[in-house]
Amino acid sequence: MASPWWQRAVVYQIYPRSFADASGDGVGDLAGVIARLDHLRGAPGALGVDAIWLSPFYPSPMADFGYDVADYTDVDPLFGTLADVDRLVAECHARGLRVIVDWVPNHSSDRHPWFVASRSSRSDPKRDWYVWRDGRPGGRPPNDWRSSFDRVGAAWTLDEATGQWYLHKFTAEQPDLNWANPEVEAAMLDTLRFWLDRGVDGFRIDVAHEVGSVPEPPAGTPGTEPWLRDQDWPGSHRVMGRVREVLEEYDGDRMAVGEVYVFDQRRLTGYLAGDELHLAHNFVFMNTPWSARAFRQTVEEFDAVAPPGAWPSWCLENHDHARVASRYDGGGRGPARARAAALLVLLLRGTAFLFQGQELGLPDAEVPPERVVDVDGRDPERAPIPWEPPSAAGPGAGFTAGEPWLPIVADAERLAASVQRDDPRSALALYRRLLELRAATPALHEGRQTMLGGGDDLLAWVREARGERWLVAVNFADGPLRPRLGGAGAPAGELVLSTDPGRAEGRVALAGLELARDEGVVVRLDRA
Ligand code: GLC
Repeated sequence: MASPWWQRAVVYQIYPRSFADASGDGVGDLAGVIARLDHLRGAPGALGVDAIWLSPFYPSPMADFGYDVADYTDVDPLFGTLADVDRLVAECHARGLRVIVDWVPNHSSDRHPWFVASRSSRSDPKRDWYVWRDGRPGGRPPNDWRSSFDRVGAAWTLDEATGQWYLHKFTAEQPDLNWANPEVEAAMLDTLRFWLDRGVDGFRIDVAHEVGSVPEPPAGTPGTEPWLRDQDWPGSHRVMGRVREVLEEYDGDRMAVGEVYVFDQRRLTGYLAGDELHLAHNFVFMNTPWSARAFRQTVEEFDAVAPPGAWPSWCLENHDHARVASRYDGGGRGPARARAAALLVLLLRGTAFLFQGQELGLPDAEVPPERVVDVDGRDPERAPIPWEPPSAAGPGAGFTAGEPWLPIVADAERLAASVQRDDPRSALALYRRLLELRAATPALHEGRQTMLGGGDDLLAWVREARGERWLVAVNFADGPLRPRLGGAGAPAGELVLSTDPGRAEGRVALAGLELARDEGVVVRLDRA
């Protein structure tokens, strides 16, 4: 039986504010996404991704750029209308693209009618929909929890009018919902059904591991100490189980991927035990330094601790993290390492997640202090996509006819999608080839995986399925490397792809293979 689509898939994250602006107001929108679908799938020269994950487009005061949701079942006018979502889903499905939408269950906006009611009085029927507590003596908040955003400080804000504090693990405009209240659970699960009924293929679940945490230790836990933390609660697992039940009400392989931001892979994979999430983003991988040994450890540890059937997924970029080309720059090596990193995300066994612009090798944008808008320093990776060179399309680089809400990357002239499209040496061309190869090769999208040794300098692994064996090798050393590849189990093969545009492809003997600095190669091994 073929593996489910979400195991084979390459999923492409769209951050709607920064993808494409059809209205000309400087902020991206759904009509812009629809107009640019040819870039993704179903047109000549398209990247060839299998699904898109749309970051929030719901009505929002934008205190956290959409992750503060004021209505879970509508669209912010900035982005369009419900009819635009329907059109987007139809256009994607017509191209064979699945659609994943972001669901933000841990907190709503403080302008959500639920919270407006909840804060109105201690006796309001919605009071208990959020996490309200009395302060400690001396005007101190109920406990010492801190917001995830350093600039926010305490995770509690005092409501003067009613004399109690409410919990917010992010900004004060993002009050935490009280998942211990069955009415909250019922109302929130209904918002999933709203989108499933409209045909979406699944959800990315915002801070899945934080859902359902309250300041008191969970019932039945021995001792209170481990529960002083504000995340990874039994309640989070319970809610993910309920989400799964809702997905199972629908046919057609609907999928849930959680943002499970925990650094212990045993705890991370605990969400993948079968009746909770299908996939979890792996932030151990995302935060791995540029070291072959560190990546190998992360991958091997996942396999060692994951429960049977748990499927890995890999991503190196999203809207919350510096881009790979900047993060791994190491004195000018960013662009080459970003190309090599594409092999890690796309050819390690697991579902691959790409962030818009990663396929263009975009670096972080320079954001001068007067243009900073995010509370947590995440503007640089959220810079708009340069679609055309500014010399041809004007300063909005084909992203907008207006003034872009964040600056475009400095090198838009060279990095623009239209410039890369016809250049076989471009990052875009490399990604396109890798996606094509992955989709066409069972060993590379569902095959078994064996990690080879290689110390600090070499990350290498073999994938195999249906009698084919493929070797992937990436050079992490500071110079050229002649790797020992005896573990590959074949003396030679066909070098099918290199991240170094200067490399000639074709027959290669592994014993004589020398990898250039920051080069990664893909070799179809000879049959033994
Ligand atoms: C997640 C989102 C991030 C947001 C936070 C609060 O981490 O990815 O962008 O700020 O949750 O919703």
